[in-house]
Amino acid sequence: MAFRSGRHLLQIPGPTNVPERILRAMSRPTIDHRGPEFSRLAREALEGLQRVFQTSGPVVIYPSSGTGAWEAALVNTLSPGDKVLMFDIGHFATLWRSTAVRLGLQVDFVAGDWRHGVDPEVLESKLAEDRAHAFKAVAVVHNESSTGVTCRVAEIRKRMDRVGHPALLLVDTISSLATTDVRHDDWGVDVTVGASQKGLMLPPGLGLNAISQKALTASKSARLARSYWDWEPMIRDNQAGFFPYTPATNLLYGLREALHMLFDEGLENLFARHSRHAEATRLAVRTWGLEVVCLNPAEYSSSITGVMVPEGTDADALRKVILERYDMSLGTGLGRLKGKIFRIGHLGDFNDLMLAGTLSGVEMGLALAGVPFSRGGVAAALDYLSSK
Ligand SMILES: Cc1ncc(COP(=O)(O)O)c(C=O)c1O
Repeated sequence: MAFRSGRHLLQIPGPTNVPERILRAMSRPTIDHRGPEFSRLAREALEGLQRVFQTSGPVVIYPSSGTGAWEAALVNTLSPGDKVLMFDIGHFATLWRSTAVRLGLQVDFVAGDWRHGVDPEVLESKLAEDRAHAFKAVAVVHNESSTGVTCRVAEIRKRMDRVGHPALLLVDTISSLATTDVRHDDWGVDVTVGASQKGLMLPPGLGLNAISQKALTASKSARLARSYWDWEPMIRDNQAGFFPYTPATNLLYGLREALHMLFDEGLENLFARHSRHAEATRLAVRTWGLEVVCLNPAEYSSSITGVMVPEGTDADALRKVILERYDMSLGTGLGRLKGKIFRIGHLGDFNDLMLAGTLSGVEMGLALAGVPFSRGGVAAALDYLSSK
């Protein structure tokens, strides 16, 4: 590859740009994970994560990717053959379902068009029909990273309560945690799943579960085989600031620094920043005459915008031009959206000028790749950013 000056723009929907402060924090020497300094580090990280998940209950940190944290949510709460209600809203929902099926769960997978989130009406009627309470869990992806569509979790909880269904509510917030208001306790979520490499601005390598009392109780009788993912030894050892196996010490240094950054900014400001950048991005997309994948404004993602390319255009060819010419990585279309969309990640350590650069790269790339579009998207976004 030719020599590249300046910075690469990593505008995929995660992993996100890791700030210097975090990189430096992680470069410290690794310490004894059974010593007093580690115990302070772990406790600080665990308490900080409780604030991010907005919970007073336990949070578990695995040395894993998000997929591990998905598996942990399932194996700690469910038994072989249990029925789980899931919704086909995108590629990650499909992968979580495959995990569940491989673990021996029976998944009722409600069809979807990948342009809407979970329909609360459909969820309510599915649960109302289930008078025998065969569904033991409802599992929902809050922010579908493959499309840029979010689900209305508070509304989902309301519908579950309205029909009095006792299923556990498991929610994947891997690409919404620390970008969007995620309220584990208020929303009555039983397991909230997270990961390090998106809003938390860390490299990949930490998988997270926030756990309700109801989920903890369920874990006492859940019979899916579990060992590495078992919450029980983890929560027990975490109380003293330790782990039952070797933790990802240097990632925890990074996590502590990331938490300081999040709290310095303030969670409300953080959410507002992400939502403002998402709105500016959508303005640019519409001005280009392109379509945002998400069709329902109530379900727009603050983290990611999926963009449809015109019929006859290959979104991956456009991404290739943008990578080669402008040194910017954009998200590819996944699964059934391969070639049809590209995704702009506007989450994590990000500001107005980084967004301006990102959108400029897209606008120049559209022209260079010969995609039919109208100019002026960047100008529209800049007008918005300078007026808000
Ligand atoms: C919403 C969502 N869920 C799950 C995953 C899987 O996480 P990982 O790739 O870290 O295993 C991802 C990854 O991008 C994701 O965006």
